[in-house]
Amino acid sequence: MAAEKTLDDLFLDTLKDIYYAEKQIVKTLPKMAKAATSPELKAGFEQHAEETEGHIERLEQIFELLGKPARAKTCDAILGIIEEGKSIMDEYKGTVALDAGLVSSAQAVEHYEMARYGTLKTWATQLGMTDAVALLDATLKEEIATDKKLSQVATSNVNQKAA
Ligand SMILES: [Fe+2]
Ligand SMILES: [Fe+2]
Repeated sequence: MAAEKTLDDLFLDTLKDIYYAEKQIVKTLPKMAKAATSPELKAGFEQHAEETEGHIERLEQIFELLGKPARAKTCDAILGIIEEGKSIMDEYKGTVALDAGLVSSAQAVEHYEMARYGTLKTWATQLGMTDAVALLDATLKEEIATDKKLSQVATSNVNQKAA
């Protein structure tokens, strides 16, 4: 019989999943910045690449709080989302719709992160991990702000240009 698994196990496994995802995202954002034609979008991707380095550091702090080594566990969801983003970069390269496509890929990434950090924060609260809650919340706030900014960039210029 398999040993009983608890919320602690689920928390650690999910932490490894988002750790893997963030490490993929930090490699992808500079490519998206390079591909973007709107200067505002480019700057936004560059800024979020820097913030993402901070997300990785916060996750490492949480592993440390748990007394566990920081390990990544392959996250198929983020690989799929990034793969779709790459297809858009290839298929829409040089077109007026490229930036709108980049925003849509980036928002899929942000929403994945928001889902993960929201869940982890809830679990950390239930597990009484106050320090982890604060770290997860700080990152969650930056993901939400990035998503909002992407919506603003899209509606202010990117979508009109693509239409
Ligand atoms: Fe992140
Ligand atoms: Fe993000």
